[in-house]
Amino acid sequence: MKVLLLGTAAGGGFPQWNCACAMCGNPTLPPRTQDCIAISADGTNWYLINASPDIRAQILASKHLSAGPGPRDTPIRGALLTDAELDHTLGLTMLREGAGLRIWAPAAVLRALNHDFPLRDIVSRYGAWDWQAVTTEFEVDGLRVTVIPISDKKPKYTQSTVDGPWVVAYRIEDPAGGTLIYAPCLKTWPENFDTLVSGTTCVILDGTFYSPTEMSTATTTVTSGAQHAMGHIPISGPHGSLTKIAAHPHTRWIYTHLNNTNPILDPNSPEYQEVLEGGAEAPPDGTELNL
Ligand code: MLT
Ligand code: MN
Ligand code: ZN
Repeated sequence: MKVLLLGTAAGGGFPQWNCACAMCGNPTLPPRTQDCIAISADGTNWYLINASPDIRAQILASKHLSAGPGPRDTPIRGALLTDAELDHTLGLTMLREGAGLRIWAPAAVLRALNHDFPLRDIVSRYGAWDWQAVTTEFEVDGLRVTVIPISDKKPKYTQSTVDGPWVVAYRIEDPAGGTLIYAPCLKTWPENFDTLVSGTTCVILDGTFYSPTEMSTATTTVTSGAQHAMGHIPISGPHGSLTKIAAHPHTRWIYTHLNNTNPILDPNSPEYQEVLEGGAEAPPDGTELNL
């Protein structure tokens, strides 16, 4: 299985357009676009996981995703959505010129995109797409996908009371070799996660915040409670994800969805050194994995 890390930042990207913090203002740090990956069993047909608002630039930056060979052909066949958040769905509007895409998402997410933020109706006026609700398992072009229910965290734009899961992760197995878990939105370490991770080649994990109180330290307008309410497990600390990773030394661990406050955006920071020593990494946008 081939995997392209198209984007690795949280909503807003890095740097964020309206942020004058020391990190966003540091021109030496590598910029990152909002998180999105592409997967392929054969290197010819590609499927996105999530559709970042930056998808147009991400596609243009990847030689694997160039249009062709016919005048309106694209190697992008569809997208799997982990949730209904704006940073994971807005990109679908950028793909509206493409007919026939297949979109997989949990039922609550599909409903939100019908009612609360009617993106499905909007894009369907440009071309017919196929929308599939996912529950437990499905197949995407020879790749076996298992749905991992994560939480009922809803986007800010909806008051919906529809049953979840609202957030899922995906485990993707290539029968020819290689397994990947993509989990960009974790509030806590899921109960059965260690079992699911065992034998997985690579896990791409929620790395939004390094510390449990980072947002309140970086900005005066956000309280530490607000960070917790955003529902992202921190990397560091006694309940952070880095302590959990140690149990799986044979798996490659990659942090994604990095918020613009996260000190690991600086590859020379002591915090990033700690991540490396803990057995994880945060490679830049454009990284290709062969699992
Ligand atoms: C999140 O990851 O918590 C959301 O994407 C926040 C947002 O709306 O930008
Ligand atoms: Mn997000
Ligand atoms: Zn900033």
